[in-house]
Amino acid sequence: MLTIGPYTLKSNILLAPMAGITDPPFRTICREFGAGLTTSEMLTSDIDLWDSPKSKARLPQANEAEPRSVQIAGTDPHAMARAAEFCVDKGAQIIDINMGCPVKKVCNAAAGSALMQDKIKVRAILKALTSKLTVPVTLKIRTGWSRKNRNAIEIAQIAEQEGITAISIHGRSREDGFKGFAEYETIRQLKHLIQIPIIANGDITTIEDIRFILNYTDVDGIMIGRVARGRPWIFKELNQSLESGLAIVPTPRKLQHSTIYQHVLSLHQFFSTQGLQIARKHIGWYLDSLGVSKQNKLFIFGATTPAQQLEYLHEVLDAS
Ligand SMILES: Cc1cc2nc3c(=O)[nH]c(=O)nc-3n(C[C@H](O)[C@H](O)[C@H](O)COP(=O)(O)O)c2cc1C
Repeated sequence: MLTIGPYTLKSNILLAPMAGITDPPFRTICREFGAGLTTSEMLTSDIDLWDSPKSKARLPQANEAEPRSVQIAGTDPHAMARAAEFCVDKGAQIIDINMGCPVKKVCNAAAGSALMQDKIKVRAILKALTSKLTVPVTLKIRTGWSRKNRNAIEIAQIAEQEGITAISIHGRSREDGFKGFAEYETIRQLKHLIQIPIIANGDITTIEDIRFILNYTDVDGIMIGRVARGRPWIFKELNQSLESGLAIVPTPRKLQHSTIYQHVLSLHQFFSTQGLQIARKHIGWYLDSLGVSKQNKLFIFGATTPAQQLEYLHEVLDAS
């Protein structure tokens, strides 16, 4: 089983952090369905910005399943260490550093995957965090900052020297954004040179993908992202199939429907006035995964109060 510092995870299939998607209610449901670990959406290291409702929702939540992992993005080693310490005080049990995000808003500030161009800065950030914190520090990277500059192995070696506990790696370079397909050769090479746990990520959507990647790369864990949108039960299906060696047993519709209601209700409670709007996104993914018609989707999106949203959802799901 995958171990991160003192934590032995219940499954080696993890949920990828995704800003705007992996909010606390969604993480809770993924954990209930057996995700080995979930990580918060990235939180800026600039503590002055933490007063916004968006940042507050990204801080560790007291009732979240353990271990609670919080991701931090930034460029300044001291600011990042300070932000991390603050998160630990608030209940974070693992700190994850974002060096995988290609989004301009993050990379323009030379954070996220742009950091992979600057090995000195990478070392300084990792040293600042591991020397200040008593909790495990993990790192999320890409294969490099461009296809020609796949330096994930060098970055992982620095991480290992600086006491990072585990690395997750998305099999694309920063330059790739989300284009093309992830490659696992860099991940395979990295795994064979690095002693700390390695978690593979990128375009892993089926049990066949998981079996292939575990076998080909020898990684310790698998991280899935977009495929879990609107399908949090996928963790149960994948875990069962991986354990039994048998084919996927689809989650019964009844359980899918009750999960959706519960999720939407939790979103209303957690985000209060913003809950209706945030729930729309998740509902859209659920309805796509259930193959609900566009007409019915638009009907539900027309709800103007949380109660109406739940009522419309019931109506459409009961008829499907
Ligand atoms: C909408 C969206 C938001 C994301 N936000 C983050 C983030 O906050 N931190 C991070 O490290 N990666 C982020 N990612 C990248 C994912 O963690 C993951 O590496 C990527 O989606 C590839 O995995 P997948 O093919 O299983 O989706 C994001 C991806 C998406 C699609």
